[in-house]
Amino acid sequence: MIALPQPETLASHVRSYVNTAEHNDAVFNHFTARTWEHSILAAHRRHVDENKLGYGDPAFHDLWFLLLQAAAEKFPTPRCLEIGVFKGQVISLWALLARELNLPLEIHAITPLAGNPPPPLSLWSRIRYRLDRGYREQVKTGNFYANEDYEAIVRAHFAHHGLSFDAINLHRGYSTDPLLLESLATARFELVYVDGDHREAGARHDFATFGAKVVPGGWLVADDAAHDLPGSVFWKGYPEVTSALSELAPLGFVNVLNVGHNRVFQRIG
Ligand SMILES: C[S@@+](CC[C@H](N)C(=O)[O-])C[C@H]1O[C@@H](n2cnc3c(N)ncnc32)[C@H](O)[C@@H]1O
Repeated sequence: MIALPQPETLASHVRSYVNTAEHNDAVFNHFTARTWEHSILAAHRRHVDENKLGYGDPAFHDLWFLLLQAAAEKFPTPRCLEIGVFKGQVISLWALLARELNLPLEIHAITPLAGNPPPPLSLWSRIRYRLDRGYREQVKTGNFYANEDYEAIVRAHFAHHGLSFDAINLHRGYSTDPLLLESLATARFELVYVDGDHREAGARHDFATFGAKVVPGGWLVADDAAHDLPGSVFWKGYPEVTSALSELAPLGFVNVLNVGHNRVFQRIG
């Protein structure tokens, strides 16, 4: 039986964290339970689940709760960036917690708000899967998204919580877009969440490019990146994203906590 820290803060979880199967499973179960016990987190995640508005595990809601509070204690106005918004689960949670906990967050998002639909299943798509490595990686890393009106969906998601999507600093496009990168050349962030392209090259690009924009003492959270972690009660994400984590140590990042397949890195120095 693992004893988890009291009082619960990001710092107390980081201090007690050990990367063993028993501890990773206990942390995941504990964060899951805390999400469902917390009225704001539970209501937000229930809305996501009932309306199919996002991926990931309920445990991550409690991780954001602790991370945003830690960021607001450490930095006057934490600049928080999500790469890969989909239907707005994470940025709407950040905006909701900012309002409810009175946290002075500046929220940014890089996302195309557009689909990347898969070709229809056919004999050709099966042959292509065998012959075309790039296509195979897109399938294996879940990189296809149906064509939907993502902007309308995200706006409605925000409105459900009485929030305005217009308050978000939206950088519309892909994280590799040269014009978008130029516009963010001098940008710095206290917290970056990488959950966009899960192919290895895409994840490497995002870790290297946006990891370099994290201020000393700030955090980068990598989604779907726990393929090499011990533990049995959580889905571990993709080997491609996990391999790409090797971009982070040379930038001075240390892996301080893992909650399921969400890996928390802090930039030391
Ligand atoms: C797994 S979904 C994100 C899920 C969302 N973070 C959540 O928790 O519900 C990945 C999203 O990233 C977007 N995406 C893919 N490649 C991207 C890139 N290079 N830059 C920004 N967004 C990207 C996709 O359009 C999709 O909306």
